[in-house]
Amino acid sequence: MKPVQKISLKEYNTFNIDVNALYSFFCKSEKDLFEILKSDFVREKKIIILGGGSNLLFTGDVEDVLILMRNKGIEIVEKDKETVFVKASAGEIWDEFVDWCVNNSYGGIENLSLIPGTVGASPVQNIGAYGVEVKDVIEELEAVNIKTGEKKVFKNIECNFAYRSSIFKNELKKQYIIINVTFKLSKLSKLTLAYGNLQNEINKNNPSIRDVREAVIRIRESKLPNPKLLPNAGSFFKNPIISNQQFETLIQKFPELVSFPVGENKIKLAAGQLIDLCGFKGQKEKGVGVHEKQALVIVNYDNADGKTILKFSEKIQQSVFEKFNVKIEREINVYSAEF
Ligand code: EPU
Repeated sequence: MKPVQKISLKEYNTFNIDVNALYSFFCKSEKDLFEILKSDFVREKKIIILGGGSNLLFTGDVEDVLILMRNKGIEIVEKDKETVFVKASAGEIWDEFVDWCVNNSYGGIENLSLIPGTVGASPVQNIGAYGVEVKDVIEELEAVNIKTGEKKVFKNIECNFAYRSSIFKNELKKQYIIINVTFKLSKLSKLTLAYGNLQNEINKNNPSIRDVREAVIRIRESKLPNPKLLPNAGSFFKNPIISNQQFETLIQKFPELVSFPVGENKIKLAAGQLIDLCGFKGQKEKGVGVHEKQALVIVNYDNADGKTILKFSEKIQQSVFEKFNVKIEREINVYSAEF
């Protein structure tokens, strides 16, 4: 296989950043991937993997080899009365996969409706919403070692999943390419409705997983900007986790802060609220701004470049730190030439 030379990535990232990729491969199958990895052109070069481009900020041209995962396929590998194991290829669009599961009455990921991106990217940052994280339903996944070309199965426990994190974002960063994910889904209707206003939004006895999917879609559409209309990458920051002790001090000064206990000694704060309280909600400068309904989301309103967006995000981090003494970390990945 030969790379496609110099393409604009504008339509391949949801921030619509107009940078060029010098050498791109559109990988449509496992066989393609093996061929790409062993080709003379690619060996010894740095590789960057792109799924839906919905969790990424480009701050310059991509001079490394770019592999766009576009392999498709959904397959039932095993089922019994209660459970079904479904294997989905990395290049499947996440929300189309959720829709397929809901149409077949396979429950477990309906709360994760409308999250942009691909199946292969979902474990990397352990996507989550409305009380469910993808780690709750991942049985195992297959990934290819970039250096050796060998395929390896990672069971759930080996992925070191945590809040918006996994081994693929940490110890094994840039070492493996995920090619498919197997989900353990339920044929019985076990719903997770406790988060926020999900229950109220459904407002019905015995809701189905389709009702849950529709309610989640309504809530997301009412709060989160559609990247096709207002380019963005979802939550730009992670919700910060602080110690009980720090929380006790903070809550005295800011009694309005929302908080969620994490294990015994830690508290998760809502980064959106912290940013909101710093007065950023709805603010715009140099073509970039904070969304008016959800302060966790940075929007590229007017063709800002990646560096401008990054600088703006650093200003937000600084401001939150000065007001609350809390560091908010980026959730999205920043790609720069030195990345
Ligand atoms: N809040 C504000 N102001 C804001 C935003 C939020 O005061 O501008 C307050 C809300 O009132 C609420 C609390 O913060 O009390 C939490 O807000 P919300 O329920 O909207 O959730 P979140 O913590 O801001 C997280 C995920 C979202 C996910 C929602 C729903 C992270 C980083 N983000 O947001 O995920 O959709 O929960 O489960 O964990 C994403 O990752 O891209 C994403 C959108």
